Order: sequence, then structure tokens, then C-alpha cells
Amino acid sequence: MSKDRILSSKEIKEDISTENPLRPKKLCEYIGQEKVKHNMSVFIKAAKLRKEALDHVLLYGPPGLGKTTLASVVANELLVNIKITSGPAIERPGDLAAILTNLGQGDILFIDEIHRISRSVEEILYPSMEDFSIDIITGKGQMAASYHLPISKFTLIGATTRAGQLTAPLRDRFGVVMRLDLYTNEELFKIINRSAKILNIPIEKSGALEIASRSRGTPRIANRLLKRARDFAQVVGNGIISYKLAKIALKELEIDEIGLDSNDRKILTTLIKLYKGGPVGIETLAASIGEEVVTIEDVYEPYLLQIGFLSRTKRGRCVTKAAYSHLGFNNN
Ligand code: ADE
Repeated sequence: MSKDRILSSKEIKEDISTENPLRPKKLCEYIGQEKVKHNMSVFIKAAKLRKEALDHVLLYGPPGLGKTTLASVVANELLVNIKITSGPAIERPGDLAAILTNLGQGDILFIDEIHRISRSVEEILYPSMEDFSIDIITGKGQMAASYHLPISKFTLIGATTRAGQLTAPLRDRFGVVMRLDLYTNEELFKIINRSAKILNIPIEKSGALEIASRSRGTPRIANRLLKRARDFAQVVGNGIISYKLAKIALKELEIDEIGLDSNDRKILTTLIKLYKGGPVGIETLAASIGEEVVTIEDVYEPYLLQIGFLSRTKRGRCVTKAAYSHLGFNNN
């Protein structure tokens, strides 16, 4: 529960301007995800017109693409409060009941990593999403009593990196299901320039392009690399992120020309050296490199699949020819 945060719409603005200045607060400031933004703007307008709560929304896709940011933007556009929590933070059904009974009409409950909520918590979530009520049992044995409590009509925004892990009944209760995709280099370029402006970081166009092209489609990585490049610019350069400086910083960070880091390279080289390029099962691969299966699946694989360095077959993961030549291995 300590990880929970409840933010009023006024506080969202403060959170955006003080705590996390890079988070956009309006849909028009949110870069990329055009289809998601367009549809979301329609649903927001319709909910406002009807003076109803927005239908429940499920956002899914790889980490770092802005699911929490988008939920805050939606709350801001709707002028409602948002309560931010995560699946693992809601330990008991009572924790969720406490959160739900404190929500106001139209408020948003954002649950990150919603695939990780426990079955007992999920059982409270269903009726709350559908009937806007919860059933609470207090006491034990003869002292047991059951209460049926109405709650405010709220909007649940669930976020997950693995939509397939949601139970079908939970998935079916979301009226809006949206997938966030990896960003293009042009979109990341815009995000980097926007962030640099907000953080007062001098950056040249060529420097921003270089960072964008190595951020593996992910704004969180782009913003992190921008900040680290600023460190190098201030300590070993003249404070400006030029093309040359960006290249120096990225080399020091062991991020190669196409954005692969040491972990990506470890996955690919292990597949090549130990398993002749595959196919190899994900469990075996994870054990070989000392990484969790979910980390490989959620964090590393999406980009490696997208750039065509990895393929997923029924018999396991395979390295492609493109990966062999990028890493300097012979594939004959
Ligand atoms: N910061 C992180 N993600 C962003 C996005 N999609 N648009 C603007 N700024 C961002």
C-alpha cells in the first residue's frame, strides 16, 4: 500500500511540473501512438458529453512506452482524480476495497502490472467493474457478516506487458483495449528534443538523432540516454550534446549503433555460441544467461523481434542472419 499514490487533477499538474517534468499532461503533447491517441480522444469526448465515467481501459505493450503517462493524461483531460497503484502492491482484497470506496464519481484507478493481481483481489475487482459495488465479509464463524457496498462509477485503467496472462473474465470486462507499439526514430527524436527543452539541455539535431536511433523504440530509454549524455557533455565535453559527444557517451554506455546493450548482445551471442543459433527454448536460454524468462520476454525480446534479429518458432528462439552479421559472426 505504501507504493500507492492518489493524485487529484490539480496534483497531477503539480506532479507533472515538479516531480516528473517530462510527463506530458495533454493528449496533444503526447508524441506518437497516433491511433491510440485519436481513439482515446473520441472516447474522452463522448464520456464528457454524456457526463459518464469513461469505460474501463486496458493498455498493453512493452515496458517504458508511456502507459502510466497516458493514464495520467486521460485523467487530466477528463478533469478527474487518478489513483495510481500496481498489481503486486494490492496484497489483500481489503486493500482494494479501501481504494475503491475512496474513489469519487468518474475517478480513475490505474493498476500497473494488472496481470500480477492475486485471484482473491481479482474477485473483488469483477463486481466493482461491472456493478460498481463490492461485497465485504467481516468477522469469522457466527460473527461473520456480509455487506454489499455501492461504490462510485469509476474508470479502471489497467496496464500490462502481457495481456495474454490476464484471465479471460478480467480481460472481457475492459470496454477499451489498446496496444502501445514501439516508437519510430522520428517520434523518439521529437520526445528527446521536447525533454531537452524542458530540462534545459543544449543538444544539436544530429546528437538528438543519434540518441533516438539507439533508444530501441522506447521513450523511457531515450530520456535516460539523454540525461546520461548530458552528464558526459558536462564532464568531458563543452556541455552541448553534439553528434560526436552523443557517440562518445553511447560508446561508454556500451550501447551500439542500433541500440543493443550488453544484455541484448549476451542473449544473441549465447544463442549463437551455445546453441548454434537455435531453436532453443526460452527456459533454457534464460538459465544459460542467468536472467528471468519474463525479463527476456518483456524487456529484451520485443525490440530484437522488431528489428528482425530474433524469431520465435514453435521449437524455440532462433537468431536470424541479420543478427549474425551485425555481431560479426559467420553464418555458414
Ligand atoms: N515522454 C515519455 N513518453 C512521451 C510521449 N509519448 N510523448 C511525449 N513525452 C513523452
